[in-house]
Amino acid sequence: MRIAFIGGGHMTTALVSGLLRHGTVVDSVRVADPVTSHLERLAFEFGVQGSTDNRKVVADADLVVLAVKPQDMAEAARSIAGELASRRRLVVSVAAGVRLQDLERWLGKGTPMVRAMPNRPALIGAGITALYAGVGTTADDRGTVEKLMSAAGETVWLEHESQMDAATAISGSGPAYFFLLIEALEAAGTAIGLPHETSRRLAAATASGAGRMAAESGLEPATLREQVTSRGGTTAAALEVLESDGLRATVHRAVAAAARRSIELATQSGNE
Ligand SMILES: NC(=O)c1ccc[n+]([C@@H]2O[C@H](COP(=O)([O-])OP(=O)(O)OC[C@H]3O[C@@H](n4cnc5c(N)ncnc54)[C@H](OP(=O)(O)O)[C@@H]3O)[C@@H](O)[C@H]2O)c1
Repeated sequence: MRIAFIGGGHMTTALVSGLLRHGTVVDSVRVADPVTSHLERLAFEFGVQGSTDNRKVVADADLVVLAVKPQDMAEAARSIAGELASRRRLVVSVAAGVRLQDLERWLGKGTPMVRAMPNRPALIGAGITALYAGVGTTADDRGTVEKLMSAAGETVWLEHESQMDAATAISGSGPAYFFLLIEALEAAGTAIGLPHETSRRLAAATASGAGRMAAESGLEPATLREQVTSRGGTTAAALEVLESDGLRATVHRAVAAAARRSIELATQSGNE
């Protein structure tokens, strides 16, 4: 399986690094990017070959990964449309808010495509990617994409493309919500007497440990919360403030705002 990456930025770096760690041979990977210093960095870090010519990189590929910013997607897709017309290749787009109907318009009708929404922890192999398979994709294609994206962490399939906006609002934008919470915890810890660095370590490791327990224990988050909350104790005192100050409603409003913005951005990028 020869893989062509269009765009040699953060997400490509994360995926290439994960693929090589999981045993993909470096000769089967090519990267296209207009900036030679980006290609030189990838060659230096991973030994991956690259080109500033998108068509050249796609020519002998079996799988094409579109990893450019949403606003660059129309141009990048159009640049390889001619090449894709020559034989069947699977295309995976990791761009936030770029709909398959628009990609198909730019790439050509009948291109088998999968939309992927990874998130930032992909950079350390701890991401989760929401996937949606377009018409014309086979079970083999879905297996191929799952293998590709599991280089960056977990994967989950969506049934409808419209659910991508919700997934974007939860896991795509989600790391920033947790960073904000860690920032707030760190500042609060400092305010009540902890050294800055100690407070940060306590907050970050607690977020990471709680996240792992929520993902791996098989228990409901509410059960986990109840298990660490004894009546009249310190946790109960804090949770009472968080609940009465409306944390849940704030989270609902924040997620709805992110999903709305995802829809707006998809509409804008589709107007290219
Ligand atoms: N990074 C994340 O955490 C994350 C999470 C979820 C989804 N994504 C999605 O992943 C995609 C890539 O994000 P990123 O963070 O990797 O962006 P990035 O670091 O900016 O990388 C994109 C690369 O593509 C290059 N490029 C621009 N136009 C191109 C073209 N026509 N052909 C080939 N290459 C082109 C850019 O060059 P210039 O620098 O010269 O523009 C840049 O090197 C985005 O659509 C984003 O929505 C990223």
